[in-house]
Amino acid sequence: MTRDLAERSHPTFNVADFTLVEDTDTGAIVSSANLISQTWSYGGIEFGVGRPELVGTHPDYRRRGLVRAQFEVIHEWSAERGEKLQAISGIPWFYRQFGYEMALEMGGGRVGYKPQLPKLKEGEEEPFRVRLATEADLDFMSHVYEQGNERYLVACVRDEALWRYELNGRSEKNEDRQELRLVETVEGERVGFFTHWTGLWKQRMGTSLYELKPGLSWLAVTPTVIRYLWATGEECAKREKQEMGAFAFWLGTEHPVYQVMHSRLPHTQKPYAWYVRVPDLPDFLRHVAPVLERRLTGSALVGHSGELKVSFYRDGLRLVFAQGRLTDVEPWEPTQADDGAAAFPDRTFLQLLFGHRTLEELDYAFTDCWAGSDEARALLKILFPKQPSHVWPVV
Ligand SMILES: CC(C)(COP(=O)(O)OP(=O)(O)OC[C@H]1O[C@@H](n2cnc3c(N)ncnc32)[C@H](O)[C@@H]1OP(=O)(O)O)[C@@H](O)C(=O)NCCC(=O)NCCS
Repeated sequence: MTRDLAERSHPTFNVADFTLVEDTDTGAIVSSANLISQTWSYGGIEFGVGRPELVGTHPDYRRRGLVRAQFEVIHEWSAERGEKLQAISGIPWFYRQFGYEMALEMGGGRVGYKPQLPKLKEGEEEPFRVRLATEADLDFMSHVYEQGNERYLVACVRDEALWRYELNGRSEKNEDRQELRLVETVEGERVGFFTHWTGLWKQRMGTSLYELKPGLSWLAVTPTVIRYLWATGEECAKREKQEMGAFAFWLGTEHPVYQVMHSRLPHTQKPYAWYVRVPDLPDFLRHVAPVLERRLTGSALVGHSGELKVSFYRDGLRLVFAQGRLTDVEPWEPTQADDGAAAFPDRTFLQLLFGHRTLEELDYAFTDCWAGSDEARALLKILFPKQPSHVWPVV
């Protein structure tokens, strides 16, 4: 992954997007990080994201603030690029120190084992075919992917260059390489696609992305996909001299496959979380205002007018609504005399904003989280419902 980013052509990254720390006595590189720019969407509204990755410090140089110093640089770069959010898939707790909150679902899924493998009946033909994806399939996959993203609050936006990079941009040994497979009818009509890993992980062969075009039954197509994953896993197992143990759908907390394959996927793997940082929260909320207004329109508070002051204790936000429109969002500071209509400690508000936790869940987990009036409680619940996300990030 590091070599690909540094040496190969990448649609959104070049080698100068790495930060390096050099020991001036020896010339050795002792710490590094990078920033991978990309576009994500929130309820369909796009915005720039900076993804810090490949963060590491040589053991002899740890705990001297070298990562902290590089994050200052990376956050400056990201601001210069106009990115409204930074997101990291990182080790537990560490990045909280740099302004991040674990606030967006990441990964997780369902797993099935050999007894759950759907078998073809005696003499039965495979009802769908699976083949390698080619350049000619990029448009189709991109279209089906975009339709699938409608079920998620946050998703990654991929243009043609990124699709091409997924297809043939990465080298064989890149751990982030995924194989792209097309599913078609026996007559050759394309019905969907999925990705699969290049090797086994914990004796499992899994997919992290599986979409069908609208009008297709997931119940009809999925057994073929499972059999393909199993057969591919067995080939890997032979190569890697281990045993194939399970097939995995790494598709987050909610996906149509889970509905139609309930008993074939007995193990549920809870998701991890993206660390997210929103340096200018009023600006982000103004940007996604159409999504919030849409939620208000379809709610018990349709046409709402009024203000909502949300305290984060040291600072906060003031949102102004007029006839169902979010007309203003500005920074606001709570005082003893005016502590607002609701409060969220530290950066927990981001968990609400990114559909990760409900107001009740935050209220339950944090004693210093509260909504003081019926109006504030109703408004926050309507504006920020819990919703699944599935981000297939650029790396
Ligand atoms: C995690 C890692 C990158 C930290 O690098 P580092 O150069 O030591 O980080 P910094 O010194 O800038 O850390 C910033 C702060 O976090 C503290 N810190 C460092 N490692 C920590 C850890 N594992 N857990 C908690 N705090 C840690 C530092 O003491 C420092 O605190 P301070 O500012 O109050 O003095 C480094 O330990 C490493 O390379 N680990 C192996 C690879 C890895 O896990 N990378 C992250 C992948 S997401």
